[in-house]
Amino acid sequence: MKYQRILLKLSGEALMGDKQFGIDNVRIMQYAQEIKAVWERGVEIAIVIGGGNIFRGVQAEQGGMERTQGDYMGMLATMINSMALQSALESVGVPTRLQSAIEMKQICEPFIKRKAVRHLEKNRVVIFGSGTGNPFFTTDTAASLRAIEIEADVVLKGTRVDGIYTADPEKDPSAEKYDVVTFSEVFEKGLNVMDMTAFTLCNENKLPIIVFDMNKSGNLMRLVQGDAVGTKVEF
Ligand code: GTP
Repeated sequence: MKYQRILLKLSGEALMGDKQFGIDNVRIMQYAQEIKAVWERGVEIAIVIGGGNIFRGVQAEQGGMERTQGDYMGMLATMINSMALQSALESVGVPTRLQSAIEMKQICEPFIKRKAVRHLEKNRVVIFGSGTGNPFFTTDTAASLRAIEIEADVVLKGTRVDGIYTADPEKDPSAEKYDVVTFSEVFEKGLNVMDMTAFTLCNENKLPIIVFDMNKSGNLMRLVQGDAVGTKVEF
């Protein structure tokens, strides 16, 4: 396996599948199976999941809600997704631990870096809920931060598109996909990988990112085996 310890970032929206809101059972079970296959090969897996299928802080602000309030609600939304993913993984026999950046001790452990690493070493999949626990940060930033803390080899950003393009492929038909791109090219060309806070954290800590289509079966496995899937951002 090319990667021994990965941080997998999943989008909340992707959990909706074909639905307009919430969690699609088929989709979440499909993710659980993909993750299980990689886990069975001994890869240490940490996961951060977004909450956009349930609540988006930024949109709530546009509707007049105070930003921090909306952001905290978004963090709770990530907990709902994290709990659902935890159940899905356990239902297929994968041991998990859920840690939250905001303490909710009746529901899960608090985030404790050393404990998280210990869980990974014992082959438990660790899910980090509640983002970073702070407003004004995204779950992409939580993914970068946690990946750096647990010394993951790579951040795998699973999305609905299959990589990074020269322009938005949905708006510009001439947009071309990169197989590999450097951090400085992303800065220079203003490419859309993650928000800048998340991206800068990875850049400053020499953590590569791979953006890939998580909905294509087998992609996750191919990636950790070292196949060229999606777009890799490297140095
Ligand atoms: P080891 O240190 O390897 O034994 O890890 P462990 O996670 O099995 O040990 P621990 O006794 O800490 O946890 C047992 C179970 O309780 C696990 O499912 C944990 O996720 C859970 N757990 C631990 N701390 C908390 C907490 O503060 N709140 C909640 N809700 N669950 C917790």
